[in-house]
Amino acid sequence: MNKVLERFSLNGKRALVTGSTQGIGLAIAKGLAESGASVILNGRSAEKLSTAIHQLTAEGHSVEGAAFDVTDPTSVKAAIASLNEGGKPIDILINNAGIHRRAPLLEMTLADWQAVIDTNLTSAFLVSQAVAPGMIERNQGKIVNVCSLMSDLARPTIANYSAAKGGLRMLTRSMCAEWAKCNLQINGLAPGYIETEMTKILVQDEKFDSWIRGRTPSGRWGSVEDLVGAAIFLSSPAANYVNGHLLVVDGGLSVVV
Ligand SMILES: NC(=O)c1ccc[n+]([C@@H]2O[C@H](COP(=O)([O-])OP(=O)(O)OC[C@H]3O[C@@H](n4cnc5c(N)ncnc54)[C@H](O)[C@@H]3O)[C@@H](O)[C@H]2O)c1
Repeated sequence: MNKVLERFSLNGKRALVTGSTQGIGLAIAKGLAESGASVILNGRSAEKLSTAIHQLTAEGHSVEGAAFDVTDPTSVKAAIASLNEGGKPIDILINNAGIHRRAPLLEMTLADWQAVIDTNLTSAFLVSQAVAPGMIERNQGKIVNVCSLMSDLARPTIANYSAAKGGLRMLTRSMCAEWAKCNLQINGLAPGYIETEMTKILVQDEKFDSWIRGRTPSGRWGSVEDLVGAAIFLSSPAANYVNGHLLVVDGGLSVVV
């Protein structure tokens, strides 16, 4: 392998991607596998997990599955303990699982507030707290927290989501503050508007769709593929001195008015 490719190679690494039975998580898992990692897919539905595992296995990748709910502390602990049992460590963790529950602030229920905070923020705390001790012991590891444009920007009806993603940005920096000295690199990846199941309702809304195309300098929605290179970079030796950073992949949306 030439020197350049070596810098981005994930050969011999084992990567856990949460919420990876579809969308951005599945695309990132596939990309990490194509860069040489063996990947662990995660989701709550055993059926969806098995379909995604078959898909990547059929493409010749090394894939495992771990069905657990990232918001449930007991399940998270049990799942990570079981993944650690085989003796092969988790080298890369991508905290990707996330949800939306849209409503104006005055109408937002506490349940919808809490669900979004739990899934988009607390989950990263729980899964990282379970995975990081092994990384710290081995003095190496990469954690990528899937943040958002909404880690920095606000919009009506998504206060819960912006609060969670803003918190995730600061959790990323806090992990850096505590774990960088143990040779862990913890960074955020902030997608712009990407076409997935999560944004289907927005893509189908003609007014919103044309606003996004006009507002984004690249003139289009992002695809899940657009995020893969950045995820590989942050997971690879090429990013060994990149820490606490938020890498925005948004077609330029956040830098123009
Ligand atoms: N699509 C976008 O435009 C966009 C933009 C910025 C950030 N993001 C973030 O990217 C991540 C992936 O989003 P997506 O667009 O692929 O959405 P998606 O809905 O297609 O995927 C989210 C995944 O998370 C899983 N998940 C949800 N709750 C879970 C739980 N409790 N336990 C385990 N898995 C759970 C879902 O089952 C699903 O597989 C999310 O964190 C999202 O907030 C998406």
